[in-house]
Amino acid sequence: MTMQTRNQQLVTVIVILAISVTVLVVVYDVIAQTYVLHNHVRHNDVKRTRDVKLLKVITPASHHGSSLNNTFVSHGLMGRLGNVLFQYAAMYCIAKRNNLTPLFSDPMELKNVENPGTLVNYSVYLSKKSRTQLLRERFCCSYDNRFESLPNDHNYSIYGYFQSWRYFEPCKAEVLEIFKFKKKYVEEANTIIGDLRKQLPNKVLVGVHIRMEDHTSERATRNGKQIAPPEYFIRAMTYFKNRFHDVRFVVITSSQEWWLSNVTRSDDVVFHNRTQPAVDMEILSRLDHIIVSVGTFGWWAAYMNNGVVVIFNDCFKPGSPYGNQFLHNSTDYFYPGWLRM
Ligand SMILES: *[C@@H]1O[C@H](CO)[C@@H](O)[C@H](O)[C@H]1NC(C)=O
Ligand SMILES: *[C@@H]1O[C@H](CO)[C@@H](O)[C@H](O)[C@H]1NC(C)=O
Ligand SMILES: *[C@@H]1O[C@H](CO)[C@@H](O)[C@H](O)[C@H]1NC(C)=O
Ligand SMILES: *[C@@H]1O[C@H](CO)[C@@H](O)[C@H](O)[C@H]1NC(C)=O
Ligand SMILES: *[C@@H]1O[C@H](CO)[C@@H](O)[C@H](O)[C@H]1NC(C)=O
Ligand SMILES: *[C@@H]1O[C@H](CO)[C@@H](O)[C@H](O)[C@H]1NC(C)=O
Repeated sequence: MTMQTRNQQLVTVIVILAISVTVLVVVYDVIAQTYVLHNHVRHNDVKRTRDVKLLKVITPASHHGSSLNNTFVSHGLMGRLGNVLFQYAAMYCIAKRNNLTPLFSDPMELKNVENPGTLVNYSVYLSKKSRTQLLRERFCCSYDNRFESLPNDHNYSIYGYFQSWRYFEPCKAEVLEIFKFKKKYVEEANTIIGDLRKQLPNKVLVGVHIRMEDHTSERATRNGKQIAPPEYFIRAMTYFKNRFHDVRFVVITSSQEWWLSNVTRSDDVVFHNRTQPAVDMEILSRLDHIIVSVGTFGWWAAYMNNGVVVIFNDCFKPGSPYGNQFLHNSTDYFYPGWLRM
């Protein structure tokens, strides 16, 4: 064997080794993240944001000229607007009740809200160095009272979806204040609502939010997610027509065709095409009443709406992995007073 072929072999071996190590690292990383995400929340097919990895904290003094003065609770926010609002609200209130400092990663969705002074953005403190005690929620959609009393001799990373109003009920007013949307979104919504009111004077306006998309994937269905069928919307609309005089429905959807061919062609409906999530949520929250189907986006629009809320009750298949996340007849998830149909 010549020197040259031996060198070539050596190079080949090194290249193969390097590739193997890279592949191993990537696979490990994927498995680690998947484990973290799915260990407890396998049912939920929420989209991950990049910062879902558990957050650790550096000693900030050298980093920012400020320091953390008491123990903290941190959370890598995940998902889109509705999910982030749940996690943020829960975290805010858990921290407050336990006299901890809330540390949040920096999800884009929070750029939509007006109140940066109240929203403490501690992303400057976050790094991958020091240790925290990890606490996971037990169920995505039921209340876990362990978070009511966290001894403040620890720093915590808390992890979960926290889809229960009970996590933030003691902070409701503050949470709603924090979640006021930025002026440009509110103004855009004002214009649209103004036009609707002009076009439909003296009518009771009921917003309708339809959510299907990621609740109909094969995986979501296997987990037990269910979407609201056309009959649900008919039932809910009938309820409002019986209860109020002269109702019009403002349907926010990305598919008018679906509504027209599957629900109704009746002329008491006007459509609003989906725009920015913040604008759509603002509109839904400000109409007189609201009908929501499934998902966290609709949940929050309903929570922010001051009128009558009708919500789809059968968002899960009983006994399914997703369904088993709802304890106590779903009363931790649905807000008291909402009409479940
Ligand atoms: C800690 O306390 C100092 C002095 O009161 C203050 O300037 C600083 O902002 C506090 N740090 C945090 C993270 O609240
Ligand atoms: C939070 O702070 C980071 C780092 O300073 C910054 O890049 C980001 O824009 C801030 N996020 C919000 C929502 O203000
Ligand atoms: C919590 O984290 C802060 C910031 O890294 C650190 O100064 C403090 O010692 C930690 N406290 C505990 C109890 O680990
Ligand atoms: C109406 O619903 C059916 C059954 O879900 C669906 O297959 C069809 O695509 C829907 N029609 C439209 C126009 O979306
Ligand atoms: C809304 O979307 C539909 C298609 O679903 C389209 O026909 C209609 O022109 C759009 N309306 C506005 C105001 O953009
Ligand atoms: C569960 O809640 C629904 C809706 O509020 C109610 O109609 C039903 O009676 C409850 N079931 C039980 C077993 O409490």
